[in-house]
Amino acid sequence: MFKKIKDNILYAGINDKDRVIFDELIPLDNGTSYNSYLAIGSEKTAVIDTMYPKFTEEYLKSFDENGISKVDYIIANHGEQDHSGSIPALLEKFPEAVVVTNAVCAKNLQEMLLVSEEKIKIITNGEELSLGDKTLKFMISPGVHWPDTMFTYIKEDNIICTCDFLGAHYIFDDVFAVPSKELEKSAKKYFAEIMMPFSTVCRKYVQTIKDLKVDMILPSHGPIHKDPDYILDLYSDWAGEKGKNLVLLPYVSMYKSTAEMIDYLADKLKEKGIPSIKYDMVEGNLGDLAMALVDGTTIVLGTSMVLAGPHPAAFNTVYLASVLRPKAKIASFIGSFGWGGDLFGKMAKMLEPLKLDIIEPILVKGKAKSEDYAKLDKMAEEIYIKHKELGLI
Ligand code: FEO
Repeated sequence: MFKKIKDNILYAGINDKDRVIFDELIPLDNGTSYNSYLAIGSEKTAVIDTMYPKFTEEYLKSFDENGISKVDYIIANHGEQDHSGSIPALLEKFPEAVVVTNAVCAKNLQEMLLVSEEKIKIITNGEELSLGDKTLKFMISPGVHWPDTMFTYIKEDNIICTCDFLGAHYIFDDVFAVPSKELEKSAKKYFAEIMMPFSTVCRKYVQTIKDLKVDMILPSHGPIHKDPDYILDLYSDWAGEKGKNLVLLPYVSMYKSTAEMIDYLADKLKEKGIPSIKYDMVEGNLGDLAMALVDGTTIVLGTSMVLAGPHPAAFNTVYLASVLRPKAKIASFIGSFGWGGDLFGKMAKMLEPLKLDIIEPILVKGKAKSEDYAKLDKMAEEIYIKHKELGLI
Protein backbone atom coordinates (compact mmCIF):
# COMPACT_ATOMS: atom_id res chain seq x y z
CA MET A 1 0.00 0.00 0.00
CA PHE A 2 1.09 3.54 -0.69
CA LYS A 3 1.94 5.46 2.44
CA LYS A 4 1.01 9.03 3.17
CA ILE A 5 3.95 11.33 3.70
CA LYS A 6 1.74 14.41 3.92
CA ASP A 7 -1.42 15.59 2.18
CA ASN A 8 -1.27 14.43 -1.44
CA ILE A 9 2.35 13.31 -1.23
CA LEU A 10 2.56 9.51 -1.19
CA TYR A 11 5.30 6.94 -0.86
CA ALA A 12 4.92 4.25 -3.54
CA GLY A 13 8.14 2.33 -2.97
CA ILE A 14 8.98 -1.29 -2.29
CA ASN A 15 11.37 -2.91 0.19
CA ASP A 16 13.70 -5.49 -1.33
CA LYS A 17 14.63 -7.35 1.81
CA ASP A 18 16.12 -10.32 -0.02
CA ARG A 19 18.66 -8.41 -2.03
CA VAL A 20 22.11 -9.31 -0.71
CA ILE A 21 24.38 -7.67 -3.27
CA PHE A 22 24.12 -4.45 -5.26
CA ASP A 23 25.65 -3.97 -8.70
CA GLU A 24 26.96 -7.52 -8.26
CA LEU A 25 29.73 -5.89 -6.23
CA ILE A 26 28.72 -4.59 -2.85
CA PRO A 27 27.18 -6.85 -0.19
CA LEU A 28 24.06 -5.40 1.44
CA ASP A 29 23.53 -5.80 5.19
CA ASN A 30 19.94 -4.55 5.21
CA GLY A 31 18.53 -5.14 1.73
CA THR A 32 17.40 -1.99 0.02
CA SER A 33 14.30 -0.06 -0.92
CA TYR A 34 13.36 1.49 -4.26
CA ASN A 35 11.40 4.59 -3.45
CA SER A 36 8.86 6.06 -5.81
CA TYR A 37 6.68 9.04 -4.87
CA LEU A 38 3.41 10.53 -5.99
CA ALA A 39 2.70 14.24 -5.91
CA ILE A 40 -1.03 14.76 -6.44
CA GLY A 41 -1.88 18.31 -7.38
CA SER A 42 -5.33 19.85 -7.83
CA GLU A 43 -4.97 19.40 -11.61
CA LYS A 44 -2.19 16.97 -12.37
CA THR A 45 -0.54 13.95 -10.79
CA ALA A 46 3.16 13.24 -11.02
CA VAL A 47 5.10 10.09 -10.20
CA ILE A 48 8.61 10.94 -9.07
CA ASP A 49 11.04 8.11 -9.93
CA THR A 50 9.72 4.64 -10.53
CA MET A 51 10.79 1.09 -9.73
CA TYR A 52 13.45 -1.58 -10.12
CA PRO A 53 12.26 -3.81 -13.03
CA LYS A 54 11.96 -6.94 -10.88
CA PHE A 55 9.07 -5.32 -8.99
CA THR A 56 7.29 -3.67 -11.92
CA GLU A 57 4.21 -5.88 -11.73
CA GLU A 58 3.74 -5.37 -7.99
CA TYR A 59 4.39 -1.65 -8.42
CA LEU A 60 1.80 -1.22 -11.18
CA LYS A 61 -0.74 -3.21 -9.20
CA SER A 62 -0.35 -0.86 -6.28
CA PHE A 63 -1.65 2.05 -8.39
CA ASP A 64 -4.93 0.16 -8.83
CA GLU A 65 -5.04 -0.90 -5.19
CA ASN A 66 -4.67 2.74 -4.16
CA GLY A 67 -7.19 4.13 -6.63
CA ILE A 68 -4.71 6.02 -8.77
CA SER A 69 -6.31 6.03 -12.20
CA LYS A 70 -4.51 8.95 -13.78
CA VAL A 71 -0.83 9.89 -14.03
CA ASP A 72 0.09 12.98 -16.02
CA TYR A 73 3.83 13.15 -15.48
CA ILE A 74 6.58 10.67 -14.72
CA ILE A 75 9.54 12.56 -13.34
CA ALA A 76 12.84 10.77 -13.96
CA ASN A 77 15.49 12.18 -11.65
CA HIS A 78 18.04 9.63 -12.91
CA GLY A 79 18.24 7.07 -15.69
CA GLU A 80 19.66 4.11 -13.80
CA GLN A 81 17.20 1.27 -13.96
CA ASP A 82 16.59 0.77 -10.26
CA HIS A 83 14.61 4.03 -10.57
CA SER A 84 13.69 4.26 -14.22
CA GLY A 85 13.19 0.58 -15.00
CA SER A 86 9.41 0.66 -14.75
CA ILE A 87 8.94 3.75 -16.90
CA PRO A 88 8.03 1.83 -20.09
CA ALA A 89 5.43 -0.25 -18.23
CA LEU A 90 4.06 2.82 -16.47
CA LEU A 91 3.71 4.56 -19.83
CA GLU A 92 1.75 1.60 -21.09
CA LYS A 93 -0.54 1.71 -18.08
CA PHE A 94 -0.96 5.49 -18.29
CA PRO A 95 -0.58 6.28 -22.00
CA GLU A 96 -1.44 9.93 -21.46
CA ALA A 97 1.57 10.40 -19.17
CA VAL A 98 4.66 12.31 -20.24
CA VAL A 99 8.16 11.62 -18.92
CA VAL A 100 9.76 14.78 -17.59
CA THR A 101 13.52 14.91 -17.24
CA ASN A 102 16.71 16.72 -18.22
CA ALA A 103 18.41 16.32 -21.60
CA VAL A 104 21.15 13.96 -20.39
CA CYS A 105 18.71 11.65 -18.63
CA ALA A 106 16.36 11.79 -21.62
CA LYS A 107 19.10 10.38 -23.83
CA ASN A 108 19.76 7.63 -21.29
CA LEU A 109 16.08 6.69 -21.15
CA GLN A 110 15.90 6.54 -24.92
CA GLU A 111 19.01 4.39 -25.21
CA MET A 112 18.64 2.15 -22.18
CA LEU A 113 14.87 1.72 -21.99
CA LEU A 114 13.85 2.60 -25.54
CA VAL A 115 11.49 5.32 -24.29
CA SER A 116 10.29 7.19 -27.34
CA GLU A 117 11.45 10.77 -27.78
CA GLU A 118 7.86 11.96 -28.25
CA LYS A 119 6.98 10.79 -24.76
CA ILE A 120 9.67 12.90 -23.11
CA LYS A 121 9.46 16.53 -22.08
CA ILE A 122 12.93 17.96 -21.52
CA ILE A 123 13.30 20.54 -18.78
CA THR A 124 16.18 22.85 -17.94
CA ASN A 125 17.70 23.71 -14.59
CA GLY A 126 15.33 25.72 -12.41
CA GLU A 127 12.33 25.11 -14.66
CA GLU A 128 8.98 24.64 -12.94
CA LEU A 129 6.02 22.43 -13.70
CA SER A 130 2.60 23.14 -12.25
CA LEU A 131 0.36 20.40 -10.93
CA GLY A 132 -2.26 22.96 -9.93
CA ASP A 133 -1.80 23.65 -6.26
CA LYS A 134 1.64 22.04 -6.27
CA THR A 135 4.68 23.13 -8.24
CA LEU A 136 7.65 20.96 -9.09
CA LYS A 137 10.96 22.74 -9.54
CA PHE A 138 13.80 20.83 -11.18
CA MET A 139 17.34 21.22 -9.94
CA ILE A 140 19.77 19.60 -12.33
CA SER A 141 22.50 18.11 -10.18
CA PRO A 142 24.98 16.18 -12.28
CA GLY A 143 27.45 13.92 -10.54
CA VAL A 144 25.49 12.36 -7.68
CA HIS A 145 26.17 9.91 -9.01
CA TRP A 146 25.63 9.97 -12.81
CA PRO A 147 25.90 12.88 -15.21
CA ASP A 148 22.12 12.68 -15.65
CA THR A 149 21.01 13.23 -12.05
CA MET A 150 18.65 15.92 -10.84
CA PHE A 151 16.53 16.74 -7.80
CA THR A 152 12.83 17.56 -7.80
CA TYR A 153 11.73 20.18 -5.30
CA ILE A 154 8.04 20.33 -4.41
CA LYS A 155 7.74 24.01 -3.64
CA GLU A 156 4.51 24.33 -1.65
CA ASP A 157 5.42 21.35 0.53
CA ASN A 158 9.09 22.37 0.90
CA ILE A 159 10.12 18.80 0.13
CA ILE A 160 13.01 17.68 -2.03
CA CYS A 161 13.30 14.36 -3.85
CA THR A 162 17.01 13.65 -4.21
CA CYS A 163 16.98 10.22 -5.86
CA ASP A 164 20.25 8.41 -5.01
CA PHE A 165 21.75 11.37 -3.16
CA LEU A 166 21.36 11.11 0.65
CA GLY A 167 20.01 7.57 0.36
CA ALA A 168 20.79 4.30 2.12
CA HIS A 169 20.45 0.63 1.30
CA TYR A 170 18.01 0.01 4.13
CA ILE A 171 14.54 -1.44 4.49
CA PHE A 172 11.91 -0.13 6.85
CA ASP A 173 8.29 -0.38 7.99
CA ASP A 174 7.86 3.26 8.91
CA VAL A 175 8.96 5.42 5.97
CA PHE A 176 10.41 8.08 8.25
CA ALA A 177 13.99 7.71 9.38
CA VAL A 178 14.62 6.90 13.01
CA PRO A 179 18.27 7.77 13.64
CA SER A 180 20.21 4.73 14.79
CA LYS A 181 23.70 3.27 14.55
CA GLU A 182 22.40 0.74 12.06
CA LEU A 183 20.89 3.36 9.75
CA GLU A 184 24.01 5.49 10.00
CA LYS A 185 26.19 2.50 9.08
CA SER A 186 24.00 1.66 6.07
CA ALA A 187 23.98 5.26 4.89
CA LYS A 188 27.75 5.49 5.34
CA LYS A 189 28.41 2.31 3.36
CA TYR A 190 26.10 3.59 0.66
CA PHE A 191 27.92 6.91 0.60
CA ALA A 192 31.27 5.13 0.38
CA GLU A 193 30.25 2.89 -2.48
CA ILE A 194 28.22 5.34 -4.53
CA MET A 195 28.95 8.94 -3.61
CA MET A 196 32.52 9.08 -2.26
CA PRO A 197 34.11 9.43 -5.71
CA PHE A 198 32.05 12.61 -6.07
CA SER A 199 32.71 14.10 -2.63
CA THR A 200 33.39 17.59 -3.95
CA VAL A 201 30.03 17.64 -5.73
CA CYS A 202 28.34 16.17 -2.64
CA ARG A 203 29.63 19.05 -0.52
CA LYS A 204 28.14 21.53 -2.97
CA TYR A 205 24.69 19.90 -2.97
CA VAL A 206 24.66 19.46 0.80
CA GLN A 207 25.05 23.22 1.04
CA THR A 208 22.39 23.81 -1.64
CA ILE A 209 19.87 21.73 0.28
CA LYS A 210 20.85 23.26 3.61
CA ASP A 211 20.28 26.72 2.12
CA LEU A 212 16.83 25.65 0.92
CA LYS A 213 15.90 24.74 4.53
CA VAL A 214 13.64 21.94 3.33
CA ASP A 215 11.18 20.24 5.67
CA MET A 216 11.84 16.75 4.31
CA ILE A 217 14.30 14.87 2.14
CA LEU A 218 12.82 12.06 0.05
CA PRO A 219 15.63 9.87 -1.31
CA SER A 220 15.09 6.94 -3.64
CA HIS A 221 16.69 4.35 -1.35
CA GLY A 222 16.19 4.18 2.40
CA PRO A 223 13.92 6.11 4.72
CA ILE A 224 12.63 9.66 4.40
CA HIS A 225 14.35 12.33 6.45
CA LYS A 226 11.98 14.53 8.42
CA ASP A 227 15.05 15.94 10.12
CA PRO A 228 17.14 16.92 7.08
CA ASP A 229 20.12 17.99 9.19
CA TYR A 230 20.62 14.39 10.36
CA ILE A 231 21.67 13.13 6.95
CA LEU A 232 23.10 16.45 5.71
CA ASP A 233 25.46 16.70 8.67
CA LEU A 234 26.58 13.10 8.20
CA TYR A 235 27.30 13.82 4.53
CA SER A 236 29.21 16.99 5.46
CA ASP A 237 31.49 14.84 7.59
CA TRP A 238 31.84 11.94 5.14
CA ALA A 239 32.38 14.14 2.10
CA GLY A 240 34.79 16.42 3.96
CA GLU A 241 38.34 16.82 2.73
CA LYS A 242 40.11 15.71 5.89
CA GLY A 243 40.39 12.12 7.06
CA LYS A 244 40.61 10.96 10.66
CA ASN A 245 43.55 9.79 12.74
CA LEU A 246 43.03 6.30 11.37
CA VAL A 247 45.17 3.77 9.49
CA LEU A 248 43.61 1.10 7.32
CA LEU A 249 45.42 -2.22 7.13
CA PRO A 250 43.92 -4.38 4.38
CA TYR A 251 45.91 -7.59 4.05
CA VAL A 252 46.08 -11.06 2.57
CA SER A 253 48.52 -13.56 3.98
CA MET A 254 49.14 -17.11 2.76
CA TYR A 255 51.54 -18.30 5.49
CA LYS A 256 50.89 -15.63 8.16
CA SER A 257 54.19 -13.81 7.55
CA THR A 258 52.40 -10.74 6.20
CA ALA A 259 49.64 -11.01 8.82
CA GLU A 260 52.25 -11.00 11.60
CA MET A 261 53.75 -7.79 10.22
CA ILE A 262 50.31 -6.20 9.97
CA ASP A 263 49.59 -7.17 13.60
CA TYR A 264 52.94 -5.76 14.71
CA LEU A 265 52.35 -2.48 12.87
CA ALA A 266 48.84 -2.19 14.33
CA ASP A 267 50.30 -2.61 17.85
CA LYS A 268 53.01 -0.01 17.24
CA LEU A 269 50.46 2.46 15.88
CA LYS A 270 48.23 1.87 18.90
CA GLU A 271 51.16 2.66 21.22
CA LYS A 272 51.41 6.00 19.42
CA GLY A 273 47.72 6.75 19.80
CA ILE A 274 46.79 5.89 16.22
CA PRO A 275 43.80 3.56 15.79
CA SER A 276 43.84 1.15 12.89
CA ILE A 277 41.38 -1.18 11.19
CA LYS A 278 42.66 -4.54 9.95
CA TYR A 279 40.75 -5.92 7.00
CA ASP A 280 41.12 -9.45 5.62
CA MET A 281 40.92 -8.98 1.86
CA VAL A 282 39.85 -12.58 1.25
CA GLU A 283 37.31 -13.08 4.04
CA GLY A 284 36.16 -9.49 4.46
CA ASN A 285 33.10 -7.62 3.23
CA LEU A 286 33.99 -5.06 0.58
CA GLY A 287 31.34 -2.73 1.95
CA ASP A 288 33.16 -2.63 5.31
CA LEU A 289 36.40 -1.71 3.57
CA ALA A 290 34.66 0.95 1.48
CA MET A 291 33.14 2.40 4.64
CA ALA A 292 36.54 2.48 6.38
CA LEU A 293 37.93 4.32 3.36
CA VAL A 294 35.59 7.23 4.19
CA ASP A 295 37.66 7.99 7.30
CA GLY A 296 41.17 6.56 6.84
CA THR A 297 44.08 8.95 6.29
CA THR A 298 46.68 6.23 5.77
CA ILE A 299 46.43 2.90 3.98
CA VAL A 300 49.11 0.25 4.48
CA LEU A 301 48.33 -2.74 2.33
CA GLY A 302 49.87 -6.11 3.15
CA THR A 303 50.10 -8.91 0.63
CA SER A 304 51.79 -12.19 0.00
CA MET A 305 53.45 -12.79 -3.36
CA VAL A 306 51.49 -15.10 -5.66
CA LEU A 307 53.66 -16.31 -8.52
CA ALA A 308 55.57 -13.12 -9.37
CA GLY A 309 53.09 -10.49 -8.19
CA PRO A 310 50.62 -9.48 -5.49
CA HIS A 311 47.76 -11.73 -4.46
CA PRO A 312 44.73 -11.01 -6.73
CA ALA A 313 42.71 -9.91 -3.68
CA ALA A 314 45.25 -7.13 -3.16
CA PHE A 315 44.77 -5.92 -6.72
CA ASN A 316 41.03 -5.96 -6.17
CA THR A 317 41.36 -3.76 -3.09
CA VAL A 318 43.79 -1.35 -4.72
CA TYR A 319 41.49 -1.03 -7.71
CA LEU A 320 38.50 -0.35 -5.44
CA ALA A 321 40.48 2.25 -3.48
CA SER A 322 41.60 3.95 -6.68
CA VAL A 323 38.10 4.27 -8.13
CA LEU A 324 36.35 5.24 -4.89
CA ARG A 325 38.78 8.15 -4.55
CA PRO A 326 38.93 8.22 -0.75
CA LYS A 327 40.40 11.09 1.23
CA ALA A 328 43.51 9.09 2.25
CA LYS A 329 46.73 11.06 1.97
CA ILE A 330 49.39 8.49 2.83
CA ALA A 331 50.03 4.91 1.74
CA SER A 332 52.54 2.12 1.88
CA PHE A 333 52.87 -1.61 1.31
CA ILE A 334 54.28 -4.47 3.29
CA GLY A 335 54.61 -8.02 2.06
CA SER A 336 56.34 -11.32 1.98
CA PHE A 337 57.60 -13.46 -0.87
CA GLY A 338 58.99 -16.96 -1.40
CA TRP A 339 61.11 -16.74 -4.48
CA GLY A 340 60.81 -13.32 -6.07
CA GLY A 341 58.87 -10.98 -8.35
CA ASP A 342 57.45 -7.46 -8.25
CA LEU A 343 55.16 -7.20 -5.25
CA PHE A 344 54.39 -3.49 -5.13
CA GLY A 345 55.14 -1.82 -8.47
CA LYS A 346 51.86 -2.39 -10.26
CA MET A 347 49.78 -1.56 -7.19
CA ALA A 348 51.67 1.71 -6.65
CA LYS A 349 51.01 2.57 -10.29
CA MET A 350 47.27 1.96 -9.84
CA LEU A 351 47.22 4.34 -6.88
CA GLU A 352 49.06 7.12 -8.72
CA PRO A 353 45.88 9.10 -9.56
CA LEU A 354 45.25 9.50 -5.83
CA LYS A 355 48.56 11.39 -5.47
CA LEU A 356 49.35 9.71 -2.17
CA ASP A 357 52.42 10.34 -0.10
CA ILE A 358 54.08 6.89 -0.30
CA ILE A 359 56.14 5.68 2.65
CA GLU A 360 59.00 3.29 1.76
CA PRO A 361 57.43 -0.20 1.42
CA ILE A 362 58.74 -3.19 3.38
CA LEU A 363 59.40 -6.40 1.53
CA VAL A 364 60.48 -9.54 3.37
CA LYS A 365 61.54 -12.99 2.22
CA GLY A 366 59.52 -15.42 4.32
CA LYS A 367 59.26 -14.34 7.97
CA ALA A 368 60.08 -10.84 9.22
CA LYS A 369 63.48 -10.64 10.99
CA SER A 370 64.67 -8.14 13.57
CA GLU A 371 65.76 -5.66 10.87
CA ASP A 372 62.30 -5.89 9.32
CA TYR A 373 60.62 -5.17 12.64
CA ALA A 374 62.91 -2.15 12.94
CA LYS A 375 61.58 -1.00 9.57
CA LEU A 376 58.02 -1.46 10.81
CA ASP A 377 58.90 0.66 13.87
CA LYS A 378 60.16 3.32 11.49
CA MET A 379 57.02 3.10 9.37
CA ALA A 380 54.83 3.57 12.47
CA GLU A 381 56.92 6.60 13.47
CA GLU A 382 56.66 8.11 9.99
CA ILE A 383 52.89 7.68 10.01
CA TYR A 384 52.78 9.31 13.45
CA ILE A 385 54.79 12.32 12.23
CA LYS A 386 52.68 12.70 9.10
CA HIS A 387 49.40 12.48 11.03
CA LYS A 388 50.75 15.10 13.44
CA GLU A 389 51.71 17.36 10.55
CA LEU A 390 48.17 16.99 9.20
CA GLY A 391 46.80 18.07 12.58
CA LEU A 392 45.15 14.72 13.26
CA ILE A 393 46.95 14.06 16.54
FE1 FEO B 1 19.86 3.89 -7.20
FE2 FEO B 1 22.05 5.23 -9.46
O1 FEO B 1 20.60 4.21 -8.87
